[in-house]
Amino acid sequence: MENIFEDMDNESFIFNDKSFLDHKFLPEHLPHRNEQIMLVAKYWSETLKSKSPSDITVYGKTGTGKTAAVRFAKQQLLEYAEGKDVPIRIEYIRCTDYNTEYQVIVRLCQQLGADVPWRGWTKAEVLNVFRGLFNGKFQKKTVLIVILDEIDILLQKDGDGVLYTLTRTNNVSVLSISNYVEFKKFITPRVMSSLRDKEIVFPPYNAQQLEDILNERAKMSFKISIDDEVIKLCAALAAKDEGDARHALDLLRTAGEIADEINSLTVTEENIRQAKERIEHNITTDIILTLPTQQQRVLESILNLTKLNEEISSGKLYEEYKKISIEDSLTYRRVFDIINQLEMLGIISTNTISRGRGKGRTNIIALQCDITLLEDTLFSF
Ligand SMILES: Nc1ncnc2c1ncn2[C@@H]1O[C@H](COP(=O)(O)OP(=O)(O)O)[C@@H](O)[C@H]1O
Ligand SMILES: [Mg+2]
Repeated sequence: MENIFEDMDNESFIFNDKSFLDHKFLPEHLPHRNEQIMLVAKYWSETLKSKSPSDITVYGKTGTGKTAAVRFAKQQLLEYAEGKDVPIRIEYIRCTDYNTEYQVIVRLCQQLGADVPWRGWTKAEVLNVFRGLFNGKFQKKTVLIVILDEIDILLQKDGDGVLYTLTRTNNVSVLSISNYVEFKKFITPRVMSSLRDKEIVFPPYNAQQLEDILNERAKMSFKISIDDEVIKLCAALAAKDEGDARHALDLLRTAGEIADEINSLTVTEENIRQAKERIEHNITTDIILTLPTQQQRVLESILNLTKLNEEISSGKLYEEYKKISIEDSLTYRRVFDIINQLEMLGIISTNTISRGRGKGRTNIIALQCDITLLEDTLFSF
C-alpha cells in the first residue's frame, strides 16, 4: 500500500519557499518605508549618546508596515550598538498577548531577566523590581526602549496606566504602535503631559507601491516568474481594499496555492480572483460562526425573508425573528441594535427609504454575503 504521505510530499511546481510570504517574515528591504524608518532611526540615535530618546507614536491602518518597519529599526540599532559597547535594551511587546499594565511590566521584568510571578504580587511590588533593574543589574546609563505594538487594545482594556508608569521611569523610552488612528482618545491629560511623543504616520500603500512590495516577495517565494499583469491585479485589488500589504501578500500566496492544487505551472489572473473569493469566504465564515446566538437568529430571519424574495423592512424582520425564537426573543429595540452590529460587520446593509408624505421612513435590510455560504455556515452545526 502507498504511504499516506506519499502524495503530500510532492514537490511544488510553484513555490520555492512559501514562508517568505508569511506575515512574520521580516524582509531586509522595505520599499516605500524608508522615510518612516529613518525617522525612527533619527530619534533612537540619541541612545548612542547614552540618552533616552523621545517617546514615539507610530500610527496607520493595518498592513501599512508598522510592525515590520519598527522591527527592522530595532534590529539595525542593536546590531550597530553591539560593536560600540553602548548599553541598550529593546523589548518588543504585543499588547494583544499582554493586555494589562500588570502583565506588561511582569513581561518586561522577565524579558530582562528578573524572576517575577504572573499573579500574586501587587503592582507596586512588580514595579519596584522593574525600576530596581536600572540601579542594580544594569549599568546606570543603560537605555531601555519598550515597543508596545497594538497599544490600542491595551488602552481600551486597561486604561493608560502603563504609559504613565513607563514614561515616568528613568532610562525608559516608549515606542507605541497603533492601528487605530484616534487612539489618543484613550489617553488622559495626566499621561499626555508626560508623553512628549514624536508622531510617525504610515499612510496606506497605493497600487504601484504594493506592486513593488509584491514583486520583491514573489522573487523569493516562487520558483516560477509571475506575470506582471498578475502582480498588477493583485496590487490593484489590495489597494482598493485599504492599501493593506498583508492582504496583498495573502492574495498572492493563496493564488499560488490554488495554482498548486490544480498542478498548474503558473499563477494566472484568474487564480488571483479565485484567491480573493476564497479569502473573503473564509473571513465571512469566521464572522458568522463566532456570532452570539441571538445575532445568528436575526441573520437567519434575514436569510429566510431573502429566500422568499421579500423586501425586508425592520418591522417584517422582527416578525420573522419572533417566529423562530418563540421562547427567548429580544425586544424590538435590541434587535434593532443587532441589525446595526451586523451592518458594521459588513454582512448586511440597511437603507432608509421614505414611503412618501406622512407615511414615515422605513429601514430596508439586504444581505451582503453569499446566500449559500450563509446557509451552509449557519446550519453547519
Ligand atoms: N514596505 C514593505 N515591504 C515589504 N513588505 C512589507 C512592507 N510593508 C508591509 N510589508 C509586509 O506586509 C505584512 C504586514 O505588515 P505589518 O508590518 O505587519 O503591518 P502593520 O503592523 O502596519 O499592520 C508583513 O508581512 C510585512 O512584512
Ligand atoms: Mg502590526
